[in-house]
Order: sequence, then structure tokens, then C-alpha cells
Amino acid sequence: MAHAVHFHDQRQQAAYASLRDETLAGFAAEPKWASPKYFYDRRGSELFEQICQQPEYYPTRTEELILTQAAGAIAEIAGHAANLVELGSGASRKVRLLLEAMHPSSYLGIDISQEFLLASTRRLASDYPWLEVHAACADFSQPMALPAGFDGAHPLLFFPGSSIGNFTPEQARVFLGNLHELLPKGGGLLIGVDRLKDKALLEAAYNDEAGVTAAFNLNLLQRIRQELDSDIDPTRFVHHAFFNEAHSRIEMHLISPQAQQVMIEGACFRFAAGESLHTENSYKYRPESFCDLAGTAGFKARAHWSDPRQLFSVHYLERE
Ligand code: AVJ
Repeated sequence: MAHAVHFHDQRQQAAYASLRDETLAGFAAEPKWASPKYFYDRRGSELFEQICQQPEYYPTRTEELILTQAAGAIAEIAGHAANLVELGSGASRKVRLLLEAMHPSSYLGIDISQEFLLASTRRLASDYPWLEVHAACADFSQPMALPAGFDGAHPLLFFPGSSIGNFTPEQARVFLGNLHELLPKGGGLLIGVDRLKDKALLEAAYNDEAGVTAAFNLNLLQRIRQELDSDIDPTRFVHHAFFNEAHSRIEMHLISPQAQQVMIEGACFRFAAGESLHTENSYKYRPESFCDLAGTAGFKARAHWSDPRQLFSVHYLERE
């Protein structure tokens, strides 16, 4: 191994809830809910990779197209002294487009999953021998600090994939505020945001013909069955995804077509016929409204780019 990864363990006393606690709380609530962060066990992550390859799911390939075309402009705004910090994986091709255009002196990957983080940063270290690679194991949805060496530098945070869409606009403002705190003045945030668009296109993206999104949604129940003490049967639920125009969001649900009761960790939960378990929101934004939202968190909108079909946007925000 030519280049080692510098590892920073920044896990805090788990302030975030566990699958068990959140599942019990969500199933007891009215209406019932589950958190989308639990989609991503090994099988769920595989299914998500497959979703990204479905013809109806435009965000991944569109964001890649935008980054391919905008990489030069992004590198120019960031300046060549910038350090690249990626929130989330490091497995994607997207960050490689930036590394190649920016040639930053160092890269820091931040992820909650140590296993995934180390695998992806080690691949980057071996593919880019000129790059100093750091990995920080941390939950970036909570307030955190950049490891020493990054805080004083000129970092560009990269948050691709439109994952910001899982937050409500109010939660997104708080999250953006935390990122603002993390950055020194002049630091940047490059963030992918899915655009508001025709309802039919949006709904098709979450109801692919091959049924991969349905399998991804239902896998959450399989995970509950495997990891908790539960008799929940995924075959007794159906996937339902639709665009909620009033809230500008895709909603994913699991519907119980028939009345049933399920046991989880000794507690019994009843579903009426047709009752739903709400599993995910994915908010869609007009680029201008996203700039306004970022502005309320203290960011200045430097630039944003879209594809010719105006499906997706990538925003360059700067900490003022
Ligand atoms: C990873 C949250 C951006 O909202 O499009 C894809 C997750 N859910 N298909 C999205 C997802 C169903 C995805 N994000």
C-alpha cells in the first residue's frame, strides 16, 4: 500500500437514536413513520445502487453530467489551494470528477459507517497517489468540527445526491447552519439539489418499472425483522410513492392492504386495512428557493448549474 489513509475517530456519545428506539417510536405514532436513514443496510445500499441505474431514476446520472460540465468552473471558484471534504460516501464517481478538476492537496471523507468509509477512502488513496487522504468517522447530521488541519484551510464541502431532500426545509436550514458553523470564512459548500418538475417524471423516478424502488422500500421491513425481535412480514405490505404538491415532496409509504398486527420487541402494533407507514420524504426545490433557504443559513449563492432538461441543480454556496 503506497499511501495510507489518515483516520480520525469523531464519533460522539450516540446522540442519534437506534433502529430499535426509532422503530418503536415511529410505529406507535399516528400516522406511523420510519426513518429513511435505516434503508441503508448492506442489501439496502445494494438496492440503492441499482435504483441509481434505473432508466426512470434521473438524479444520479444527471448530477454526474452537470459535474462533468461544471468541474472546471467549480475548480476556478474553489481555488487551487482548496481541500475537498465529502459528506457521505466516497464510493461514487462524482467526487473523482472534482478531484481530477481541482487537484486539491488533500481529501477528507466523512461518514458514519467506518467500514464503508475506510473501504472507499483506501480506494481513493490508491487511485490518486498524489492525494493526501483523510477519513473521519462522524455523524455529520449533528454539529461537529473539522479535524485539525482542515479547519484553518480553505475547504470545499461536497454534499452530492440531493440527500438534503430527506430533511424538511426547516431541518435543512438547521443542517445548513451546522455546516456554516463548520466552515471558515470563504469556505464553500457544493451541494446537489433535485429540482421541482413535472409530477409524472417525479413519480416515475420513485416507481420504476423493474420494481427496484419498491424492493428498497420493503427492505426496511426485512431489516426490522432481521435485526429486531419482530414477526413483521414484508409480503403483507405494498410500496406506494407519490408527489405531494402542497409540500413539494415525493412521499414514500408502505401500505398494509389488509388489517394486521405486528410484533416488534414485545410490543404489538395494529394496522387498519389501507393504513400506511410513511418511510421517506424527498423534497424538490426551485433553484431560487434553495438559494433563499441557504441564504437564511448564512450562505451566499455563488453559482448554480443545471442540465439542459432542468431536472437537477448543483449549487456553489460560500460562507460569508
Ligand atoms: C438518497 C435521499 C437522495 O430521495 O431520491 C431514491 C433516496 N429513495 N429512491 C432520493 C431514494 C427512493 C434518494 N436520496
